[in-house]
Amino acid sequence: MLDAGCRCSDDPPVPPRNHYIFVCTNRRPDDDPRGSCAARGSLQLFAALKSEIARAGLAKVEARCCQSSCLDHCAEGPIVLLEPEHVVYKHVTLGDVADIVEALRVGSRVDRLVAKSASSGGNEESG
Ligand code: FES
Repeated sequence: MLDAGCRCSDDPPVPPRNHYIFVCTNRRPDDDPRGSCAARGSLQLFAALKSEIARAGLAKVEARCCQSSCLDHCAEGPIVLLEPEHVVYKHVTLGDVADIVEALRVGSRVDRLVAKSASSGGNEESG
């Protein structure tokens, strides 16, 4: 059964985007030693990325920005994961948003933000 708030049933199919940008917005209690991306400002980062992608005219076809639960790179947060490239950006700040969107526009990546290993380096279980 569809959620009453979902527009999916009556709308035409939404085309897939070339890129999906997942921003970890996981939040843990303030006293959790693992910290969390939300505690480091990822909700504001998500909003800024979404807005800048739209402003750049990339939202309809090129890129969709989504919130994510923990991406298992907590110590390096805020974390942004680009798919299908599977590139992990670490320690992302609002000051990086323009460079990330420009890299999407020209088909490159922001090398200074790339985590050394996208497949390891997590420091805890999800959640
Ligand atoms: S809390 Fe963001 S990667 Fe774990």
